[in-house]
Amino acid sequence: MQGVQETALKQSQIQDDLESWVDRYREDASKGKCAAYIPALAKANPEQLGICVIGQDGSKAVAGNWETAFTLQSISKVISFIAACIHHGISYVLQRVDVEPTGDAFDSMIRLELHKPGRPFNPMINAGAITVSSLLEGDSTEDKFDSLTSLIESMTGRQHQINEEVYKSEWKTAHRNRALAHYLTATGFLGCPAEEALEVYIRQCSIEVTTEDIAMIGLVLAHDGYHPLRQQQLFSKEIARLTKALMVTCGMYNASGNFAAFVGVPAKSGVSGGIMAAVPPRGRKGETPFGDGCGIGVYGPAIDQYGNSVAGTALLGQIAGAWDLSIY
Ligand code: DON
Repeated sequence: MQGVQETALKQSQIQDDLESWVDRYREDASKGKCAAYIPALAKANPEQLGICVIGQDGSKAVAGNWETAFTLQSISKVISFIAACIHHGISYVLQRVDVEPTGDAFDSMIRLELHKPGRPFNPMINAGAITVSSLLEGDSTEDKFDSLTSLIESMTGRQHQINEEVYKSEWKTAHRNRALAHYLTATGFLGCPAEEALEVYIRQCSIEVTTEDIAMIGLVLAHDGYHPLRQQQLFSKEIARLTKALMVTCGMYNASGNFAAFVGVPAKSGVSGGIMAAVPPRGRKGETPFGDGCGIGVYGPAIDQYGNSVAGTALLGQIAGAWDLSIY
């Protein structure tokens, strides 16, 4: 009985802490701005901040605007990479996209021409992600997209829709990504026609989720591809570890070094303001919350110059410090 009371006490403490940190770091949103290069994203309320943490046993702690729907954007690159590796095997995928960080912006194209034969440096930048989308299973845009959504749904346990307004808004303004897709066709790295790869990529970026959904995906990654609630291995440990290494080195783009140093968990951001983090089980279980590992989903649409949620990054830094989450 005492144990049950203690657990309830700990859970309410976790909940209280999350709520007070969300209140504190919401103010950091004023240091950023909603993405405007995709016009529909600029409509979000920049002051929102929400978080959902899900533990290995399904226990959940939430605060702030955790239920707001937002689009996956670059967080989708993690899932498409996993899907392509499941379909083709890791070595095939890595012939078309490398695993090196760039230190450049996510939409940069400069290295494609500087480094012959132009293999994209990693699957988290747009060039690499468009390449990966072209490799998804299926002979049409629909089939490729379906193979991706079925992987997402196997992790989140629910169906996902596209946000049509965001999709159309990005499709109309995707000049850089269109240039990248056609350049990658010229260099021979795409597995399907440029416009098809682009359509799959922009669709996957427009998939709607909440912080709970991305926390679930983070939880599966934290457990090396094993879904602890479904008790099922969804993809191999090798794919999960490679993906987490890419999240650490490239997941926050040219702020990945800073994020590793001051937060210290594998994470992936998106320009709509989401951050997905995968926290593996840690040594000193019981002493800190979620010692058996957890997935964290954060949403805060005001982003910085690198494309990462300002308040979301600050909130994750606070939690990582207080709960001793760093993997280093
Ligand atoms: O391709 C783009 O520019 C967007 N659909 C996704 C970029 C993104 O999310 C970068 N993230 N921080």
